[in-house]
Order: sequence, then C-alpha cells, then structure tokens
Amino acid sequence: MFRGLNARLLLSYILIVLVCLGLVAAGLFLFVRTSPLWSRVGVEPLDPAVQALRAQLASTGAPEARTVESLRILLARICQDQEVRALLLDQSGRAVFDSEGVWTGRPLADLVVQRIVRPTTSQGTFVAPDGRRWIFFSEPIAISGGRDLFAVFIAPYARWLPFLWFVDNFFPPLLRAGLVALVLSVLMAWLLARSVARPLRRVAGTANALAQGDLAQRAPVSGPKEVRDVAQAFNHMADEVTTVQQSQRDLIANVSHELKTPLTSIQGFSQAILDGTASDPASVERAATIISDEAERMRRMVTALLDLARFDAGQVKIARGPVDLSSLVKRCAERLTPQAEAAGNALVLSVPDGFVVTGDPDWLTQVFVNLIDNAICHTHDGRVEVTAEYEGESVRVTVTDTGEGIPPEDLSRIFERFYRADKSRRRQTGAGLGLSIAREVVRLHGGNIVAESLVGLGSRFTVQLPARKNDQTTA
Ligand SMILES: Nc1ncnc2c1ncn2[C@@H]1O[C@H](COP(=O)(O)OP(=O)(O)OP(=O)(O)O)[C@@H](O)[C@H]1O
Ligand SMILES: [Mg+2]
Repeated sequence: MFRGLNARLLLSYILIVLVCLGLVAAGLFLFVRTSPLWSRVGVEPLDPAVQALRAQLASTGAPEARTVESLRILLARICQDQEVRALLLDQSGRAVFDSEGVWTGRPLADLVVQRIVRPTTSQGTFVAPDGRRWIFFSEPIAISGGRDLFAVFIAPYARWLPFLWFVDNFFPPLLRAGLVALVLSVLMAWLLARSVARPLRRVAGTANALAQGDLAQRAPVSGPKEVRDVAQAFNHMADEVTTVQQSQRDLIANVSHELKTPLTSIQGFSQAILDGTASDPASVERAATIISDEAERMRRMVTALLDLARFDAGQVKIARGPVDLSSLVKRCAERLTPQAEAAGNALVLSVPDGFVVTGDPDWLTQVFVNLIDNAICHTHDGRVEVTAEYEGESVRVTVTDTGEGIPPEDLSRIFERFYRADKSRRRQTGAGLGLSIAREVVRLHGGNIVAESLVGLGSRFTVQLPARKNDQTTA
C-alpha cells in the first residue's frame, strides 16, 4: 500500500488539503466569534416563533386594540405551535406572563432586564435567576393606553448550538472547495508521478537490457533534472562497462595473438630438429637458439602480464627507501650501451650526481631500461640522450632520441597495454607492455610520465618523481 510514487503524492496532497481546510475552518470560526454576527448565532431556533408573532401582530391591526390579555393569548398559542417558552415583561422587567407559569409575577434580575427591556428588538443569551443559561429574542410591543410591553421568546441554551450553526453555514462551501482541491490534487499527483516515473522506468528497462548483454542500449535523458541526472549517470556507467568489457576482450585477443607467434616458431623449429630437417649441428644450434629466444620472449611477456595484473589488483608493494637516481639511471644506460652501439646510436648522458628519490630501485630500473631501450630500438644512426635535473620539488629525467618519432594518433595510446605504434611489428621482441608498466610504477611513486614526439625528428619521454629531501642514499 502506498508504495508507488503516485499513491504517495496523492496521500500527501490529500493530507495537505485536509490540514488547509481545517486551518481555514478554525480561522473562520475565530473570526465569526469576534464579529457582530455572533450575537445572532444560537438564537435561530427562536426564528419561527418570532415570525409567527410578527405575522399575528400585523393581522391584529392597531396597537390600541391590543391588551395584556390579548397578547397573553397570542403568546400562549405560539408556544403551543412552536416549541419555545414565551414571557411578557413590563417596563420594570417583571414577568406579566410566563408560558410555563414559573416566573409569572416575578421580577427578573437587573442585568437580564438591561439586556431584554430595550426600545428596540434585542437578542442573545442571559442567565436566569435559576442559574441556567437561555437564548432570548425580545420585541417591544405597544398596547392600548400608550404602554410598551416586551414579548420575549426563550429556549435553553445548548453549548453545541453555535457549532451546529457554524457547521450548517460554513461547511458546505468548505467541502466544495475541498472537493475541487482534491480533484486538482489527483490530477497533479498523476501528472507529476508520470513525469518522474516514466523516464525512471525507461532507465530500469535499459538496465535490464544491459544486464541481458545488449551493451548498445542507453537510457533516454528526459524528465525533471534529478531524473535526467540519474539517466546521465547510468549512461556514463554503461559507457564505462562497455569500455572495460571491450578492453578485456582486446586483452585476451592480444595475449593470444602475442603467444601464438612464438609458440608457432617454437613448434616449427622443434619439429625441424625432431624430423631431421635440421640435421647438421649448425642448423640444430640455430633452431635451438631460436627456440630459446622465443621461450625467453614468452617468459618476459607472461612476467609483464602478471606484473600488470598485480598492479591492477593493488598487490604490488613498492619499497620506500631512498634511491640514488643518478647512479641508477647511469647503470641502466650502461647496460644498454652494446645495443646502442649495434644500432649505430650515440648514447649521451647528462646526469649530475646526487639526485635522490624515495622508492623501489628494481621497479625504477625497469622503467628507465624500457625507456632507453625503446629510444635505442626506434633510432638508427642517431643520438639518444638521457638528462636529469631538478624542477621545483621533483626530479625530472628525460630520454630523448632522434629516431623515427611517433605519429600523433598513436602518441596518446602508447601507454595502453599491447599498443605498438609500428603496426608492421618490425621489432619482434617487444610486446607493447613496457610503457604500461612504466606508467603504473611512476604513478605508485607519486610521479608522472609523459611522451612528446615529432614524426621524423624523434621522441622525448619525461619522468617526473618527487625528490627526497635531506636523506642518505643507499642505492
Ligand atoms: N622512443 C620511441 N620512439 C618511437 N616509438 C616509441 C618509442 N617508445 C615507445 N614507442 C612506441 O610505443 C610502443 C609501446 O612501447 P612499450 O615500451 O610499451 O612496448 P614495446 O617496447 O613495444 O614492448 P616491451 O617494452 O613490452 O618489450 C612501442 O611499440 C613503439 O611503437
Ligand atoms: Mg619497450
């Protein structure tokens, strides 16, 4: 019950309407109570008797014809027909007649007399000598001899009478207003609920479609702002899910592809040894070398993949010791000097001593070896320069080459897993994982890595790491 938006809105609207009506009624009641109108309230039960009296007086003609006796008879008759009590008072407030005979001949109290014995019609309530409260209506009547008597109708005062009067007079219009408000609320609740529920239902529908594998589905962005925000956030999430799924598919395709090539050649060359195609010692050795190289390549790739998986899972623990970056970078360059020479490249180092950072020497070595190795592999008969300098609070290491460069469309993607700019895959050794790992390592060290390149002119990779302050070095 009241689970739906529609029902809840309707319920709250009805509550609001009821509360408002109650407030209006209470306000009206207070207003009427303090207004002159209130003196009429409660004496209405006497109205029929008053009408009857006036009609009779009009038909009995001139005042000269009236006597105390005739008035007495007249009042007694009215009291028989109408259920009221009638008194006839003289100027002093003495009861000349009481239709119930109780007060006949007795004077009424002064206060009562002041209210009832007046030159004009008066009405209201009074407390009788017996302590009871009565409603009254009093009318002066001229009789023969130029005297004035007062015909007074009274009835017991009932507490709830004013309320009854109020209910009779004000409730019908209030009720009508309430009904109109109710109809409007139903309409408004329905419209509002529809404007929110409809787009939400469509988002839910899209979510179900997505769950069933239809990744192309997107929720329409419509309705109130909050609902549009939900749809937009949902679509954003759907985009992310699609991207993740796509990159997972790519990864599996890439891994299979990268493993297939070395496996094929391992199988081919081992077959050649087995079936005797490679019979002389020289070709057997050649086949064995290739098998060993390919196996090594696979091992490196699997290691790199495992590293990346551990980075993704947040399982890689980076040591936090002081690292002498200057000598670390120099050692990396030394290791690669033979390759540089083989490619006809000059490997130039401008790395001053004394740059210290906080981190893990093994992982940092892997980063710089890969950067320098990349530079050497993509440069022929050129120059590879490694520099280090302070920039503010950090150390900046650059690896610049005069090689082939990277096209702009590839530059933004070279840090992705398995991404290789040279599609021809001239370079058989790399799997395209080195830069992905470098980025993860640098990130974990609190630094960043960027690549700049101009096709035909060369590339520059810049690694920025927070410098360590006033500490001993160990690396
Ligand atoms: N200095 C550079 N000059 C030109 N292209 C580069 C350079 N450095 C990287 N690249 C491009 O970026 C790609 C990704 O580099 P990355 O180091 O991630 O992989 P890799 O060197 O091919 O293989 P791995 O490092 O895993 O052995 C390279 O394949 C190459 O196309
Ligand atoms: Mg590399």
